[in-house]
Amino acid sequence: MHHTAPTSPPTDQRWTVLSLVEWSTNYLIEHGFDEARLHAELLLAHVLQCTRLQLYMNFDRPLTADELSAYRSLFKRRLTHEPLQYIIGETEFMGLPISINLEVLIPRPETEQLVEHAISIIRAVEKESVDVLDIGTGSGNIAIAIAKLAPKTLVTSLEVSTAALNLAQQNVERNAVKNVSLVRGDVFEAFLPDRVFDVIISNPPYISIEEHSTLEPEVRDFEPHLAVTDGADGYRFIRRICDVAFHKLREGGSLLMEIAYNQSDQTIAIAESAGLAEVRVLADFSGNPRILVAEKK
Ligand SMILES: C[S@@+](CC[C@H](N)C(=O)[O-])C[C@H]1O[C@@H](n2cnc3c(N)ncnc32)[C@H](O)[C@@H]1O
Repeated sequence: MHHTAPTSPPTDQRWTVLSLVEWSTNYLIEHGFDEARLHAELLLAHVLQCTRLQLYMNFDRPLTADELSAYRSLFKRRLTHEPLQYIIGETEFMGLPISINLEVLIPRPETEQLVEHAISIIRAVEKESVDVLDIGTGSGNIAIAIAKLAPKTLVTSLEVSTAALNLAQQNVERNAVKNVSLVRGDVFEAFLPDRVFDVIISNPPYISIEEHSTLEPEVRDFEPHLAVTDGADGYRFIRRICDVAFHKLREGGSLLMEIAYNQSDQTIAIAESAGLAEVRVLADFSGNPRILVAEKK
């Protein structure tokens, strides 16, 4: 799987912040990694527990043997194509800090747009309290961002993975949100009987099993299969969530769901045959149709 034996900055020389960042940047570029300088800086800032700006203000600072050894082990992990966010253990989603581990998908910038659309729909709901269901919550990023940015919501988060739910709970506490409740459950089983929602939101696993094997190693080899692929044709969750939305949305309620750039036509057909109305797909910032929006009439 990995063609190059991971190596790391030699220990037989003295390193400063600048020389280490430069050595690492060149090494990453030579080995075909993108964003080489940024990643070298973020790894070193993580080891030194400082910001990137502070690195720039301390370029001549020498590294201790312990700091170099900590850096070397993180650098080797990046050389195996492990995503930077897993190595550092956190990321940002809509400006909020979100802890990350190998049990959850790394939140993506496209998903921020899904949440922005959801928030504008939620703000237009003329109710004091808006019931939101987030299906497949992962790290909790979507639920927490909605709960924080649209405080009149009560967000219920459904997630099948206990490990993911534990992390989501930590993120709920880290961001001090009170209006999220985490529920363990499988969207393919009966769940939350007798409950209906004003908004249902989901970023489901929508990569087909065939396409999964063609993804870049960062995603294919490190992100949880349970979070990335539906193990089928890519539409298993899309079909199910459209049905769930028809049965669990209040009249006038909205479904928002992230899909792949090439799933638009088929997803519209699925949503319409599930009985949903006003079905449309909105573009992400690259112009790709990625966000299904539909209503229950
Ligand atoms: C694409 S990830 C989305 C994670 C997060 N909401 C985000 O946007 O970054 C899909 C999530 O669905 C969860 N999941 C997979 N199968 C499920 C099922 N049958 N029922 C409920 N959740 C499921 C996965 O564990 C994963 O956390």
